[in-house]
Amino acid sequence: MRIGVAGVGRIGTMHATNLAALAQVDEVLLFDPVSGRAAQASAGLPGTTAIDDFDDLLKSSDGVLLATPTNTHPALLREAVAAGVPTLCEKPIASDLAEMTKLVEEVEASGVEVLVGFQRRFDPAVFELHRRIRAGEVGDIYLVRAIGHDANPPDFGYLPASGGIFRDLFIHDLDAVPWLVGEPVVEVYASGSVLVHQAFADADDVDNAVVLLKFAGGAHATLSGGRHDPLGYDHRIEVLGSKDSLTAGLDARTPLTSLEPGGHVAGPDAYPGFPERFHRAYMNEMSVFVDVVAGKVANPSPARESLISLQLAEACEASRRSGAPVRLDTKVASK
Ligand SMILES: NC(=O)c1ccc[n+]([C@@H]2O[C@H](COP(=O)([O-])OP(=O)(O)OC[C@H]3O[C@@H](n4cnc5c(N)ncnc54)[C@H](O)[C@@H]3O)[C@@H](O)[C@H]2O)c1
Repeated sequence: MRIGVAGVGRIGTMHATNLAALAQVDEVLLFDPVSGRAAQASAGLPGTTAIDDFDDLLKSSDGVLLATPTNTHPALLREAVAAGVPTLCEKPIASDLAEMTKLVEEVEASGVEVLVGFQRRFDPAVFELHRRIRAGEVGDIYLVRAIGHDANPPDFGYLPASGGIFRDLFIHDLDAVPWLVGEPVVEVYASGSVLVHQAFADADDVDNAVVLLKFAGGAHATLSGGRHDPLGYDHRIEVLGSKDSLTAGLDARTPLTSLEPGGHVAGPDAYPGFPERFHRAYMNEMSVFVDVVAGKVANPSPARESLISLQLAEACEASRRSGAPVRLDTKVASK
C-alpha cells in the first residue's frame, strides 16, 4: 500500500515516520509546496519518496494524509475526495462551523472515507475507557474530568491565527469527552484568565481556562486547560460512574507530585509535550488509518462527528466573553 502525506512540517513529518514503520505500508509519498522540503524529509526517512505535485500524490496513493495548515484543509480535502482517495485530515477539517457543515455534506455525498486526526480517539487507554463505558462497566456516568495543560506556551507569533484556546487547545477534549459520554451536550459555560504572559491578552486570548459541559442525561464534565505547567505536559481524563471510577493518562510520567507517603513524584522523565504523551496514540492512529484504507475496520473518527467539537469550542468562546452559559443546538451533528 502507498500512502501520501501532504505537508511535511511538524506533525506531517511525525506521521510520515510512523507510517513508514508500518508493515502494511510499502511506500510513503511526501509532498510539500516549499521547495526542497519533501526531498529533505525523504532523505532522512527510509521508505519515503518525495513528489512534486499534489495531483500526482493523489494519483499515486491508496490513501492520503493532510498535515497542512488548517486554512488549506477544505480545498485539499475536496480535491482528495473528488479523486476518490480515502483521507486522514488533521484537525480541524475547517475552521468555522458553516464551512465545516458544508464540507461534511460533500464528504458524505462522495462516499469516500475521511478520518479526522483527533488522536485521543486512538490512544489505547482512552480507547479502553470508551470500550468500558459502552460495555456498561462504568455504570451511569456522573462526572468526567479532563485535564489538558501544555508544559510551555507556543511561539507567541502563532497566537493571532490559532483561533483562541478553545479552538486550539481544548478542541481535543471537546471531541473526546462527548465521544466518551455518548450524549449531546446541552449547555456550556467557560471562563478564562491571562496568568502566564501578556502576549495572550494582546492576542485577545486567555492562557488558562475551565469549561463546564452539561449532558442531556444530566451528567457534567469539567475541562481545564492551560499554556504552562512547570512540571511537564499533563493530559488526563477521569470518569466517575455508578459502578467504577477510571482514568487515562495517570502513569509514571504524569507531571504531578503527590504529598502522600510513597506517592508519585514528578521527575525529569515527565512528559515534555503532546508528541511524547500521545506517542502510542499517533502510532495507533496511522495503523487504524491504513486499516480503514484497506476496508478492514470502520472509521472511528468520521468528519461529521468533528462538528460537535467545533460547535462546543465556539460556544466556549462566546461564554468566556459574555460570562454567561450558552445553550446548544443538539442536532448539529445530525444528518
Ligand atoms: N492532532 C494533533 O495533535 C496536531 C498537532 C499539531 C498540529 N495539528 C494540525 O496539523 C496541521 C499542521 O500543523 P503543523 O504544526 O504540522 O504545521 P507546520 O506549519 O509545521 O507544517 C505545515 C506544512 O504544510 C505545508 N503546506 C502548506 N500549504 C500546503 C499545501 N497546499 N499542500 C501541501 N503542503 C502544504 C507547509 O509548507 C508546511 O511544511 C494543522 O491543521 C494543525 O491544527 C494537529
